[in-house]
Amino acid sequence: MTDAAPTVIAIDGPAASGKGTIAQGVARALGFHYLDSGSLYRLVALKALQAGTALDDESGLARVAETLNSGFVDGRTFLDGVDVGSAIHTEAVATAASRVAVVAGVRRALLGRQRAFRRRPGLVADGRDMGTVVFPDAALKVYITASPEERAGRRYKQLIEKGNSVTLESLLRDIRERDARDSSRAAAPLKPAADAIILDTTGLSIEAGVAFVLARYRELGSEHGH
Ligand code: DC
Repeated sequence: MTDAAPTVIAIDGPAASGKGTIAQGVARALGFHYLDSGSLYRLVALKALQAGTALDDESGLARVAETLNSGFVDGRTFLDGVDVGSAIHTEAVATAASRVAVVAGVRRALLGRQRAFRRRPGLVADGRDMGTVVFPDAALKVYITASPEERAGRRYKQLIEKGNSVTLESLLRDIRERDARDSSRAAAPLKPAADAIILDTTGLSIEAGVAFVLARYRELGSEHGH
């Protein structure tokens, strides 16, 4: 892979499957760049909420995505120059992000921004359609999943630790609704690529997930004789 485009490892899957933490662990282990594509949808959602763009105004939302002033520096996320790392991780923005992600014009506008993260020595791209739409030529595609109950339990722990008051029942309901919306939309629905390896993290530690992806990646190298 010297003249070819930089290597991509595509990691897709539903919310709270552990894919973000696993993808970051893999990127760190390999010294690769990391793309959290969900944060782009979250930024579009936050900007739309701030600007008063209705979540059913498709052309308005596409324009928000086209003109989005986003920044990613040292693991921090900026919107219009303001650090919005915690603002984009509320349940309200997550729900709005899942709604703006349905809009084909939004997805189209974000394609180039996502592909710009593909730089040497390589990229670990985390999202819903990394292996199916954004990087269909990825060297390795892993689809990470876990049971809705396990995912709701993880999200519950995270939110409680941050001092939020939530109930497990409402999180499970949110996760089920979001899964249904992400999987049933016409534009780039959440589904494993035909050539993706499936990893179910129910009852599995983050370390074991990272080790699994690294092992699959190293197998690729040995298949190609290096
Ligand atoms: O991974 P996340 O929870 O930060 O993603 C937020 C929303 O963005 C999620 O509901 C689905 C959407 N999304 C998407 O449609 N495509 C991606 N590649 C990443 C996220």
